[in-house]
Amino acid sequence: MAEAIVVDDLVKTYPDVQAVDHVSFRVPAGTVFAFLGPNGAGKTTTTEILEGLRARTGGAVEVLGLDPWSEGRPLHRQIGVIPQDFRFFEKIRPREAIEYYGTLFGTRPDPAALLARVQLTDKAESRFDTLSGGQKQKLGLALSLVNDPKVCFLDEPTTGLDPQARRGIWEVIRGLRREGRTVFLTTHYLEEAEILADRVAIIHHGRIVADGSPAEIIQRLGGPARLRIDAGEDVASFLRARFPNEIHWQAGRVEIVLQTREDAIAILDALRASGLAWVSFSTERDTLEDVFVRLVGQMDDGVLKSANGRAPEVPA
Ligand SMILES: Nc1ncnc2c1ncn2[C@@H]1O[C@H](COP(=O)(O)OP(=O)(O)O)[C@@H](O)[C@H]1O
Ligand SMILES: [Mg+2]
Repeated sequence: MAEAIVVDDLVKTYPDVQAVDHVSFRVPAGTVFAFLGPNGAGKTTTTEILEGLRARTGGAVEVLGLDPWSEGRPLHRQIGVIPQDFRFFEKIRPREAIEYYGTLFGTRPDPAALLARVQLTDKAESRFDTLSGGQKQKLGLALSLVNDPKVCFLDEPTTGLDPQARRGIWEVIRGLRREGRTVFLTTHYLEEAEILADRVAIIHHGRIVADGSPAEIIQRLGGPARLRIDAGEDVASFLRARFPNEIHWQAGRVEIVLQTREDAIAILDALRASGLAWVSFSTERDTLEDVFVRLVGQMDDGVLKSANGRAPEVPA
C-alpha cells in the first residue's frame, strides 16, 4: 500500500472551537510523518480521529485503507498508540505491563525483547512510579509495539524530556522506520521534526500552514535569514547608517538580519565600495524553526486583527 494514512478535508468542531479546519495530508507507508504545531493547534484531535478514538465532524480519513471510526476493530489490531501524557498503574512493573497489554491484544509478547528495543532492560522489574519521564515514555513505546503494528501513533512522545532522554526516543523512532513501519509523530520541537521526519505538516489554529519535507518547506518559505561578516565595528556603523536592517556587532562579527535575498547583495556591494576592511562573510539559511515562528507569528497577527483578542499559546 502506497499511502498508510489519507486525510481529506477533515473537520472537527467542538462547541466552542473548530479544532480541525479542513485539513488534508497523506502519509506514505514506511515513512516518518511529523505533525507540528503549538499547543491547541489541533494535533491531538487529529491524531485521535486517526486512531478511531474520536468521531469527526466532516471529511474522509483512511488508515491502512480502513475508516478508523467505522472499522476500528480491524484497524486497532494493526496500529500502535501512545497517548499524550501516557500514564499507567503506579505499582505495575514494565515486564508485567507488557504481559498485561499482550493479554488485551490476545498475543504473547516477549517482554525482554521489547524492553531491549527501547533500552529499558535494566528497569524490567522497577515500579512504574519510580521510572523517569523518559523511561515512562520508553515503556509506552514498548507497549505500543506489543501487537507488532504497521502504523505507530506517538503524540508528543518527547515533550518535557531532557535532551538525552529525547535522543533515546529518537533512536527508537529511527528503529521503527528501519523496520518498515509508518510513524505518525506529533511534536512542537521543530528540530526533532527536522531530524526525524521524511515529511512534516505544520498545523496552527486547526489549519495546515505548510507541508512537505523539511528541506522543501525551508526552500519554499525560508530565506537566507542572516548575513554574517567578519569585520570590525566600523563596518557595522557604516551599514547601520545606510540600511534599515537589524544589524548587530559582537566579537569581530557583524550580523545582519535579512528581509529579502537581495538585501545581502546590496549590502556586500556597499561594503566593497566603502573600501572598509573585512575578512569573510557567509549567509545562514532559515531553519524549519525560523519558518515556523514566522508563519505562526504572521497568522497570529491576522487572528489578533480579526479581534479574537486572546494570544494563542506558542511553544517556548
Ligand atoms: N474534548 C474537547 N472538547 C472541547 N474542546 C476541545 C476538546 N479537545 C480539544 N479541544 C480544543 O480543541 C483545540 C485543539 O486541541 P488539541 O487537538 O488538543 O490541540 P494540540 O494537541 O495541538 O495541543 C483546542 O482549542 C482545545 O481546547
Ligand atoms: Mg496535544
